[in-house]
Amino acid sequence: MIYAAEASAPAKIILFGEHAVVHGQPAIAAPVSSLRAIAQATLQPVGTGLLLDASDLGEQIRILSGQPVADHPLARAALLCLEAVGADIPDLAVRLRSQIPIASGLGSGAALTAALMRSLISAVDATVPNTTLNEWVYEVEREFHGTPSGIDNTVVVFERPLYFVRGQAPSLLTVGQPITLLIGDTGIRSSTKEAVGGVHALLAARPDETRARFQTIGALVRTAREFIAAGDVSALGPLMLENHRLLQDLTVSSPELDILVEAAVAAGALGAKLSGGGRGGNMIALCDPDREDSVRAALFFAGAARVFSTRIDAHA
Ligand code: PMV
Repeated sequence: MIYAAEASAPAKIILFGEHAVVHGQPAIAAPVSSLRAIAQATLQPVGTGLLLDASDLGEQIRILSGQPVADHPLARAALLCLEAVGADIPDLAVRLRSQIPIASGLGSGAALTAALMRSLISAVDATVPNTTLNEWVYEVEREFHGTPSGIDNTVVVFERPLYFVRGQAPSLLTVGQPITLLIGDTGIRSSTKEAVGGVHALLAARPDETRARFQTIGALVRTAREFIAAGDVSALGPLMLENHRLLQDLTVSSPELDILVEAAVAAGALGAKLSGGGRGGNMIALCDPDREDSVRAALFFAGAARVFSTRIDAHA
C-alpha cells in the first residue's frame, strides 16, 4: 500500500566553528525549528510514477521505473531511500516547499533532502531510524556538495543543538540559559562548495598559518561549549566576534556580511558572526531579548534582505 504523507525538517545555524569543522575541528550548531522544508506526498493514478514537484524552487522531476533519471540531488535522494527500504517507484506527487533561504548557509539542501526522504519513507509505510536517515542525507550532500563535514545533515535530521566533530558521534549540547539570536540574510546566494574549496586552496598555499587558524577556532569552540553549558551567554559575544575575524582571515566573509556584523554590534548585539559557508548568505547576532528590536532594525537599515529570530532553549 502507498499512503499520502507529509514531513518536514528544519534549517540550521552554525554558532561556532564552520569551515574549521571540515578540517577536523569541533563546531557548535543548532536547528531553527521555525524555518522548515516541507514535503507533501499525494497519491497519483497508477503508472504515473513519482513526481518531485519543487515548482517554487524552479524544479520538477519525474521518475518512472526503468527510465533514465535526472542527475539532481532530489532525484538521487528519492532513489537512494526507496532502494534502501526495498520499495518500487511509487505513484506519488511530492510537493516540496521551503521557508529556508536557498544557498545561504542555513542548510536548505539537507533540510529538503531530509523532508523528502521522510515523506517517501512514510508513504511506502517503512520505518527508518534518524541515525540511518542521517547517513542517507549525508550521502546525497557528499555526492552533490563536495566535502561536507556532516554537520548540516546531523543537525537537520536530529533537530537538536549539537557539538560536532567530523567522523565522531555528535554530542547533545548542554545549554545553561536560553540563547536569543537574530539571523540576518544578506540576500546574496553563495556556493558552500566554492567557499570550502577556497579554504582548501588557502591551506595548500599557506599551510602553517591556515592550520594555526583552524586550531584557534577549535580552541574557541571548546571554550564556547563551556560558556553555553554554564549559561554565561554574554561571554559568547566576544567569541563570536573573534570567530568572525578568523573566518575573514580564511577569506569566507564578504563586505555585506561584515556590514551586517558591524551594524548588529553597533546596535547593541553582544556579538555577531557569519554563519555557514559565508561569502554571502547569513550572519547571526547574539542579543539580549530587550535589544532584539533595535538590532533587527539596524540589520534592515544596513541592507539585510530578511531577518529571522530564533532561540536555543535551555537543556540539561
Ligand atoms: O553553508 P552551509 O549551510 O552548507 O554550511 C556549511 C558549513 C561548512 O562548515 C562551511 C561546511 C561543512 O561541510 O561543514
